Amino acid sequence: MTKKIAVLPGDGIGPEVVAEAVKVLERLRRDFGLNIELETAPVGGTAYDQTGKPLPEATLKLAQTADAVLLGAVGGPQYDTLPRELRPEKALLGLRSELKLFANLRPAILYPQLASASTLRPEVVAGLDILIVRELTGDIYFGEPRGVRTLSNGEREGFNTMKYAEHEVERVARVAFDAARKRRKKVCSVEKANVLETSGLWREVVLKVAKDYSDVELSHMYVDNAAMQLVRAPKQFDVIVTGNIFGDILSDEAAMLTGSIGMLPSASLDANNKGMYEPIHGSAPDIAGKGIANPLATILSVAMMLRYTLNASALADRIEKAVSKVLDAGLRTGDIYTDGMKKVGTKEMGDAVAAAL
Ligand code: IPM
Ligand code: MG
Repeated sequence: MTKKIAVLPGDGIGPEVVAEAVKVLERLRRDFGLNIELETAPVGGTAYDQTGKPLPEATLKLAQTADAVLLGAVGGPQYDTLPRELRPEKALLGLRSELKLFANLRPAILYPQLASASTLRPEVVAGLDILIVRELTGDIYFGEPRGVRTLSNGEREGFNTMKYAEHEVERVARVAFDAARKRRKKVCSVEKANVLETSGLWREVVLKVAKDYSDVELSHMYVDNAAMQLVRAPKQFDVIVTGNIFGDILSDEAAMLTGSIGMLPSASLDANNKGMYEPIHGSAPDIAGKGIANPLATILSVAMMLRYTLNASALADRIEKAVSKVLDAGLRTGDIYTDGMKKVGTKEMGDAVAAAL
C-alpha cells in the first residue's frame, strides 16, 4: 500500500534542508521500490504569511491523515513580536499535541569522521551514542493555568504550570525502557526531585515501570547534574528519559557533543508509532537562503521515519551508510568543516548522499 508523507518545509533553512531529504526519498522511490506519495503544505511563519495562521486547518488535516510527517523548521525574528497564538512555534506545539506525539527520540551519535569537529576533546566524545527520550506533549509547555497577571500592587507576574499525570510519565518511560532493551540496557531518568513535586511523582512512576524491565539498569539524576555529566563524561549514558523542558535543554547540549546540531535527527511518536520527523536544529534565520545549511540532520530524520513508521529498516540503514560514506569522502558543510576537508553547500551534500545510496 502507498504510504502518504506530509512534507512541511516551514521557515528559514527548513525548505532548503527538506528539499535534500525529499531528494533522498525520491531516489528511494525510484531505485529501491519505496512505495510513497508526498504532499507538501505550509507551516509556521510561511503559513502565517499565506493564510494568517501558523497551523492552517488544511495543514493539520494533511498531517493527521498522512502516515508520517517530515518537518523542516519553524520560526524567524520577523514573527517574534506576534501574539503568542500566531507565532510559528505554536504550529509545532500544536502538531505535537494534536497528533499526540508524546515520545520524542533524539539520538546523539558522534560519527567517528567528525570527532575533531566537536568542541570537546576527541577522547571524551569518541564513540558517543546516546538516546534522549523527551516527553513532548506535557509539562510546563502545555500546563494550565498560564499567563501574565497583574498583582494587587499593580506589578505584573508571569506564571506557568509544570505538571505530569502518572499515565504521561508511564507511557514515555516504557518507550525509554523498550529502546534501552535494543541498546546497552541502561536508562537514566532525569528530573529535579530534590525540589519539585512533579519530579518526585515522575521518579515514583519510573521506579514502578522499571519493575517490568528487570533486565534494564535504571539510574536517576537531577537535571543540573545531568547537564554537567553530559559535558564531563557523556559516554556514561545510554538512554536518558526526561520531561519536556529538561529534554529540550539537554538535547541541545547533547547535540553539541557530536560536533554540530546540524547532524541530529529526531522522531516524535504517538502510541502507534505514527510520527513526525524533524532535524533538532531550528530555522537558523542567519544562514537561511544562502545554500550553506547542513541537510544531514533532515536526511537522517528520513532514516528514522523509515525505521519507526514505514517499517523499512533496510532502507534506513542504507541512508545512514550513505551519510557515512559521504563523510568518509571528506564532504563537509560549514558547520562541520575542519581543515583539509572539502567544503560543500546544502545541495551538493544532498546530491552526494542521494548518489551514495
Ligand atoms: C525543539 C525546539 C522547540 C521546542 C521550539 C521551536 C518550540 O526548541 O524542538 O527543541 O522548544 O520544543
Ligand atoms: Mg529545542
